[in-house]
Amino acid sequence: MAGGVSSTSSTQTSSFEIDDRSNEIDSRLILTNQHLSGAYPASPTYAQYRYCWLRDGSFIAYAMDREGESESAAAFHRWAAATVLTQAKDIRELIRRSERGEPILEHEFLPARFGVDGEWQQDGWPNFQLDGYGHWLWSLGEHLRRARARDVSAEVVDAARLVGDYLRVFWQEPCYDAWEEYRSQLHTSTLASIYGGLAAMGETLLPELQAVAAKVRELILEECVTNGRFVKHIGNPAIDASLLWLSTPFAVVPEDHPFMIATAEEIELTLNITGGLRRYNADTFYGGGEWLLLTAWLGWYYTRLGKLERASECLAWVESHRDHDGSLPEQVSSEAGNDRFLDYWTRRWGSPAKPLLWSHAMALVLRCELQAKED
Ligand code: BGC
Repeated sequence: MAGGVSSTSSTQTSSFEIDDRSNEIDSRLILTNQHLSGAYPASPTYAQYRYCWLRDGSFIAYAMDREGESESAAAFHRWAAATVLTQAKDIRELIRRSERGEPILEHEFLPARFGVDGEWQQDGWPNFQLDGYGHWLWSLGEHLRRARARDVSAEVVDAARLVGDYLRVFWQEPCYDAWEEYRSQLHTSTLASIYGGLAAMGETLLPELQAVAAKVRELILEECVTNGRFVKHIGNPAIDASLLWLSTPFAVVPEDHPFMIATAEEIELTLNITGGLRRYNADTFYGGGEWLLLTAWLGWYYTRLGKLERASECLAWVESHRDHDGSLPEQVSSEAGNDRFLDYWTRRWGSPAKPLLWSHAMALVLRCELQAKED
């Protein structure tokens, strides 16, 4: 359904619609599975992913904007704003406590994911991840840019201001990374996400955030670079596919910056196994398979760099993992992976999530980007 939250969305997140009518990945699967609240569940069929992560949701909304489905993106942003505002009192209190120099416990920070009705799940998930809040501000900035800020409500502006304030105060706080691991580190891609969000808001709704964004960028360039390339987190020179975010889309540096070229080369060398990217070398989740969304990301990076042939190969690899019913999984097992951990996670949670809406979103982004270049 074009231009709106699908009327087939339901309060169940199991309304996965079989799509065998087209050979192309399209936005219908996302529209069909968007909840009436506006939230996008990470996966409608995988129990642990029935929640809406700000991280996944923000990129899915961006893909919907790119696809011309701006009402779907707007519904997500209204959901995110309303969800943030239900925590407004606590967020202000956290900020006050931090300004008084009081310690804040891990479980008191805002969560990475919410139920589709905006409820905070208190279930012990490693929730303290700041990147999603940066992703949301960035995605909202992109939405406003495309919609020319026509329909921005006071509620959305209030929520963005609150999140901007939260990041202004807590951006240097060590937290879990985008893979929900490694507590107590300053992660390069998390800092890049925060930078991207603050800069996007600084250019649109909240100019006062520009100065904070500049400080985040300064720290990244001073402390997150070793041997001429970006590193997984401060003090750990490992490579991680999420480092592609440094240029694409968060523009800490441009795609052709020497740090970025060296980072992408190392990602290809170390993490590209059969054409798809692993998250990082020591990954154990499902044995550390090749991730579709990251491979699409590599293609997005190459498109912006002008390497269209390489970008098309990435899209072809992603599309080759499209199931008979049109769905894309989170990851496919890799010959470089660890079988012991593949068995462990399969016994624990079943096969990897499929469909993963974020995989679909990134394939759509890459396709739009390639089409725009080819046109
Ligand atoms: C990934 C997160 C993602 C979540 C939901 C986790 O396995 O590490 O980055 O947000 O799944 O898709």
